[in-house]
Amino acid sequence: MCGFSFARFEREVRKVRKVCEVWKGIDCVIYDTLSTVHFLVSLSLLSIPTHPSSPHSRVLIFGGRGYIAGHLRSVFPTAVFPQVDICDARAVGKILDLEKPDVVINAAGKTGKPNVDWCEDHKLETILSNVQGPLNLLDACSKRSIYWVHIGSGCTYEGDNGGSGFTEKDSPNFTGSFYSRSKLWIDQILKDFPVLQLRLRMPFDGTSHPRNLISKIKHYPKVLDEQNSLTYLPDFLVAAKTLIAKRKTGIYNIVNPGTISPYEIMVRYREIVDPKHVFERLTLENLSNVVKAGRSNCMLSSEKISQEGVKMLPVSEAVEEALKALV
Ligand SMILES: NC(=O)c1ccc[n+]([C@@H]2O[C@H](COP(=O)([O-])OP(=O)(O)OC[C@H]3O[C@@H](n4cnc5c(N)ncnc54)[C@H](OP(=O)(O)O)[C@@H]3O)[C@@H](O)[C@H]2O)c1
Repeated sequence: MCGFSFARFEREVRKVRKVCEVWKGIDCVIYDTLSTVHFLVSLSLLSIPTHPSSPHSRVLIFGGRGYIAGHLRSVFPTAVFPQVDICDARAVGKILDLEKPDVVINAAGKTGKPNVDWCEDHKLETILSNVQGPLNLLDACSKRSIYWVHIGSGCTYEGDNGGSGFTEKDSPNFTGSFYSRSKLWIDQILKDFPVLQLRLRMPFDGTSHPRNLISKIKHYPKVLDEQNSLTYLPDFLVAAKTLIAKRKTGIYNIVNPGTISPYEIMVRYREIVDPKHVFERLTLENLSNVVKAGRSNCMLSSEKISQEGVKMLPVSEAVEEALKALV
């Protein structure tokens, strides 16, 4: 490397990384300098961040005992998880001043236990945690110029938008449950602010966690046969990490391409995991006989996240991978 300037080398590598904008799967690039010398540069070995504070940012995650936050721990192993009620504005401000994070992730919220029907009977708790809490974070993070991320939901749409799926620009159209309305309200408020909103749908993975979609529906005697967009959590984590490293803001649908029905998942479950599993098919017309609140069934577009270079498995392949991990 005679006559080689390391500072220039670093600058060039940053440029190359920016062009690639793909973190997963890219180990090296061919780097051409001064048109004469070719170097094989291992980006992963160099570990040069695109953002000054990434990936060594100080990350703080609210809702740390939850399903999604537990997964976020694996990609942000040094993150802090304060046990703070996000409805308590003073406590939120205090913890931000104490920890001084570069990135705040809000994975706190009421999703209802055992399911969203709970929210119908606990409207105040739901609205406080799902709307007032995020508004407190908006205020506290804005005042301190902290970049923050909100875990949103795609359960605010109904239908497939003529087969193309709803994009981030389409207005939500499902108001059939109080949970969905609470997520819709905050989604629409936050979209006017520089916040990254990650919309998930029916998250699943290959573990026995009780909040994994597969764990939930395997206990249902009747399983709905309606096509839906879903989020495979290993892919969600890559998407979240990528967007956060780039300090992206705005709404992103984080769903795997394609659709599948919960009933189809159970058919595959019986084939791959448990041949003795017994369940019946439930149609949309009969859904109201078994649930209190309405349920969103929808297809979201995954085009925007794909354009960020994040590769999410087609949903049927993701389901298969998760089911094989359960064997
Ligand atoms: N799981 C899904 O199907 C799904 C789909 C799309 C989007 N999301 C969104 O993802 C986020 C996380 O969901 P999750 O699946 O991880 O749910 P989860 O397992 O119930 O985790 C949420 C956590 O937030 C806590 N929490 C609730 N209110 C809080 C408050 N005011 N202050 C601090 N913590 C509070 C909950 O504690 P308690 O248990 O004590 O209430 C729980 O530990 C939610 O915003 C949810 O709407 C979830």
